[in-house]
Amino acid sequence: MKDFPAFPPGFEFGAATSAYQIEGATKEDGRGPSIWDTFCRRPGAVSDGTSGETACDHYHRRREDVRLLADLGVATYRFSVAWPRVQPSGSGPVNTRGLDFYARLVDELLEAGIKPVLTLYHWDLPQPLENAGGWRSRDTAERFAEYTALVAATLGDRVPRWITLNEPWCSAFLGYAAGEHAPGASEGTPALAAAHHLLVGHGLAMGALRAAGVQEAGISLNLDHVYPATRDPADVAAALRAETQRNLMWTDPLLTGRYAPGETDTFGELIERQDFRREGDLALISAPSDFLGLNYYTPSTVRAAPWREPDPALRTATDNRFEGVDVPDVRRTAMGWAVVPGALRELLVSLRDRYGARLPPLHITENGSAEHEAPGADGTVHDADRIAYLESHLRAASEAVAAGVDLRGYTAWSLMDNFEWAFGHSRRFGLVHVDFPTGTRTPKASYHWYKAAIAAAAPASGSGPGPVRPVPRRSRPRRAGGR
Ligand code: FCB
Repeated sequence: MKDFPAFPPGFEFGAATSAYQIEGATKEDGRGPSIWDTFCRRPGAVSDGTSGETACDHYHRRREDVRLLADLGVATYRFSVAWPRVQPSGSGPVNTRGLDFYARLVDELLEAGIKPVLTLYHWDLPQPLENAGGWRSRDTAERFAEYTALVAATLGDRVPRWITLNEPWCSAFLGYAAGEHAPGASEGTPALAAAHHLLVGHGLAMGALRAAGVQEAGISLNLDHVYPATRDPADVAAALRAETQRNLMWTDPLLTGRYAPGETDTFGELIERQDFRREGDLALISAPSDFLGLNYYTPSTVRAAPWREPDPALRTATDNRFEGVDVPDVRRTAMGWAVVPGALRELLVSLRDRYGARLPPLHITENGSAEHEAPGADGTVHDADRIAYLESHLRAASEAVAAGVDLRGYTAWSLMDNFEWAFGHSRRFGLVHVDFPTGTRTPKASYHWYKAAIAAAAPASGSGPGPVRPVPRRSRPRRAGGR
């Protein structure tokens, strides 16, 4: 492909999905309820009233989806395991029928020469754990480590790369402070406790993954690149608060073993009541990772604002005295997100500059766009805007590599249109179009473009569907059923 940016040998191109967004079959084979099943029933929670009950029906169309991945030529496929399938009530023995689904998926991926990248938690907490406090409660972090050990005992020998949590910022702040995601709470200090317990859960899960001897383990964060609206010191300070809440309160403990210095200015009285933090937590949270996963879509521009809620008792954890500013003359996706590929390069470079040798190798574990689109007369979606988005962000990623950033892979979000959380089916991120009433999959123009891009990069990079590093098959579980 002409002018496709250069990537180093071994650079991995992939595609991603998550369990609740694609699987459907929410009541099959012993799966228990998750907080998203519950949240979707709340009137108004999901803009178009849909849910993940059927989604892309991937649970029954798994083989077809693996074929789409194989034909795309990706080196990696990032998917998530639904905790409520493995432990329907969030604790106790494994539900073998649920775990078998992923064992079959992993086998099929390996047979197709695709490296499985497994996310343990992509937001679908078992509802009984939420009833007991959810991530507000430290107990959930302990349960998460037990669940991790169960999954790793079965799949640890076949899955080379493990991601503990997807975007804990969203779990903590959209889930427990903004009320926009499950469980839909709007809280102050308990949301900060949730943030902390997610980090503790990551640390405990890393221990379980190390004990299981997996090849690579890390976390995926949605890091923001924040610009102050002006050079006014008040706006610069507001940008630091935004950066603290979005990035530093996650990356500082994970990578430096200290809490972010700007926390008190950002959260005020909410963070002062931090009895949820225990001695030894930082050592646990900062246990070395093999990589850091980065999900990037758009940057933010912010300016100073007063506390929205003057009474700290009523303040939620997202009330941090900054507000977003719309930047004019920038293309926006169907999410309303500004398209600024240069911010991805700046973010990658700034991570390297900030954390230096403490920063593990990076993987872009999500990047992509929802666009206003529909199939054309020929039945294909001609998604030129998505192609331009992907192309420009891959270019930005390659520029960061050229600037010396140790970036090892790029994962497009998403393999296929799916249940986009609070937007339901009204936002489409897929390389493959999904007709939700029938489940029919049709590759979009962007799928064909990405396939050609990977093929163009592969000869130089050794990426593409080449041989996956063999992993010892210690304890292969019995293959059940043959779905
Ligand atoms: C990320 C989520 C992913 C998807 C994309 C658009 O925040 O991890 O599931 O919803 O946004």
